[in-house]
Amino acid sequence: MKNEKSRSVPPAFIVKTVQSVQAGILDFANRLTPPFVQILSLAGGTMGSQALYAAARLGIADLLKDGPKSVDDLAKKTKTNADALHRLLRALASIGVFKETSGKVFELTTAAEALQNDHPQSVRPFVLLMGDPIWRNPWGDIMYSIKTGENAFNHVFGKNFFDYLGEHEELSELFSNWMTKASNMNCPAIAAAYPFNRFGKVVDIGGGQGALLAHILKKYPTVNGVLFDLPKVVEDASEIDDNIASRCEIVGGSFFDSVPAGGDLYIMQQIIHDWEDELAVQILSNCRDVMTDDARILVIDAVIKPGNGRDVNKFIDLQMLLINKGGRERTEQEFRQLFEKAGLKLLKIIPTASMFSIVEGRKN
Ligand SMILES: C[S@@+](CC[C@H](N)C(=O)[O-])C[C@H]1O[C@@H](n2cnc3c(N)ncnc32)[C@H](O)[C@@H]1O
Repeated sequence: MKNEKSRSVPPAFIVKTVQSVQAGILDFANRLTPPFVQILSLAGGTMGSQALYAAARLGIADLLKDGPKSVDDLAKKTKTNADALHRLLRALASIGVFKETSGKVFELTTAAEALQNDHPQSVRPFVLLMGDPIWRNPWGDIMYSIKTGENAFNHVFGKNFFDYLGEHEELSELFSNWMTKASNMNCPAIAAAYPFNRFGKVVDIGGGQGALLAHILKKYPTVNGVLFDLPKVVEDASEIDDNIASRCEIVGGSFFDSVPAGGDLYIMQQIIHDWEDELAVQILSNCRDVMTDDARILVIDAVIKPGNGRDVNKFIDLQMLLINKGGRERTEQEFRQLFEKAGLKLLKIIPTASMFSIVEGRKN
């Protein structure tokens, strides 16, 4: 039931209204808070992030699934120091993650449930990524990126993010898991925001484990799909289950070489933001080369609006600067230019109830 509920998608205008009310309340609260307190709490964010990371690494939320447990018991199960673990859980309880019910006995809170591995809205892989050196160390080297405009990841690890992931299987799995979970949170809103049933064959470029394509194929039974990603990634196309497997082809390859032909609709979610303009144009041009005049292309990414509005995508844009050569979130104007360079025409930008918009185009 919980699962079902989490999948229903409110219309985009309701989500946007709620978001703007929330932003208004936050702005109001900010105006009541002395500026130095605002800055202190923003700057201290890494302490909360690392404390969450430790709890997620230890699997505390899963250990508390069946009810409250004493710190001594948790320390034994996690092979940690009981005093240090108590201090960790006490700190997290002070921000609403876990609750101390009696002396050194802790239980889950609603927030802590999302740290469980198999919770329908589990964000455990995200917390693990945020705390891992592959995420943390490039942020620690942010001055390098700001001074040079180059990616700190390469500066720290001596290679590009995706090449590094290719050599570290566990991290690669963690990253793919988070992408799949994040996709599953966004996908119902994306699938609901566009008439995918107008197309016979949808090709998902860089589709990962198939989360978005699976949502589309399940919602629109007449549509067929092609899941395309690096060979290693599509080996584990875990989201393409038996219900849709007969309507879905799985193809391994690099979108810098070519993409599968024969699609009526080419979609790519969180792909273009990973790459500098030249490479982004190469991916789009490879799609253009196999598109018919009637085919459409959808870039599903954040679209940064002008002005000072609160938008988490402005921080994800910094993340892109730090981890990928030339990675960035783009404005409408920047997408328009990119499409033009790839021989495509931007038709419209469709807002969705997710954090992404749909940028629709066709051959020019
Ligand atoms: C940020 S993830 C997005 C995944 C998926 N579209 C989603 O929204 O969940 C980027 C994807 O691009 C894939 N990718 C990276 N380089 C690629 C390449 N050269 N060819 C094909 N896919 C690639 C990665 O394997 C990964 O699945």
